[in-house]
Amino acid sequence: MPTDDVISPADFWEDRYASTDQVWSGRVNHALVQVVSTLTPGRSLDLGCGEGGDVVWLAQHGWNATGVDISVTATSRAAEAAKAAGVPDERIHFHAANLETWSPHEPYDLVTASFLQSPVDLPRADILARVVEHVVPGGHLLIVAHAGMPPWATHAHHHTFPTPDEEVAALGLDGWTTEIAEVRSREATGPEGQRAVLDDIVVLMRRP
Ligand SMILES: C[S@@+](CC[C@H](N)C(=O)[O-])C[C@H]1O[C@@H](n2cnc3c(N)ncnc32)[C@H](O)[C@@H]1O
Repeated sequence: MPTDDVISPADFWEDRYASTDQVWSGRVNHALVQVVSTLTPGRSLDLGCGEGGDVVWLAQHGWNATGVDISVTATSRAAEAAKAAGVPDERIHFHAANLETWSPHEPYDLVTASFLQSPVDLPRADILARVVEHVVPGGHLLIVAHAGMPPWATHAHHHTFPTPDEEVAALGLDGWTTEIAEVRSREATGPEGQRAVLDDIVVLMRRP
């Protein structure tokens, strides 16, 4: 059995999704609802969309929504969730692709990355830097990320947990306006029903 140090991201995440019927709750992330509800709908792109909870919500709230994830099982489940929710096909799209090499083919009004974090290799900064080139002037980038390791995490996390200000600095988006850079707390339930209050960093930036 390979260790987390040698397993490829594609194999790690595909195994993770294929090992169970459902990994995430299926619900939209609360911070995304809080922030996106203040924006005018347009074209959105969700990076590392998992089973599609955020993308389905976006499509239900007026966005022409696209989600990308490395796991074909995750994107298949996301497409099924969209169908089950009655989202019209033309409003929602999912692609199974490795963001390390995938590039958007169209401009977006909003790029979201909810917990685009991984215990295995993920060149997150490079991915974000490349994808934000496709945000239209006046468009937004929303990042929601773990501020620390959830108490029930079972994998050694090799990534660091930046503060909101460190996240903004790491993005290096010259001329962009930082509209939100803060830590927000939420109640969460772990895989075995454990309850905890978790801190997330929430960063919203607007392209000039
Ligand atoms: C912690 S999960 C978050 C899932 C979802 N955004 C959510 O909030 O529930 C991270 C997601 O990133 C995806 N991912 C990791 N590395 C990736 C890569 N290189 N390209 C595309 N997706 C990737 C994983 O498959 C996983 O679905």
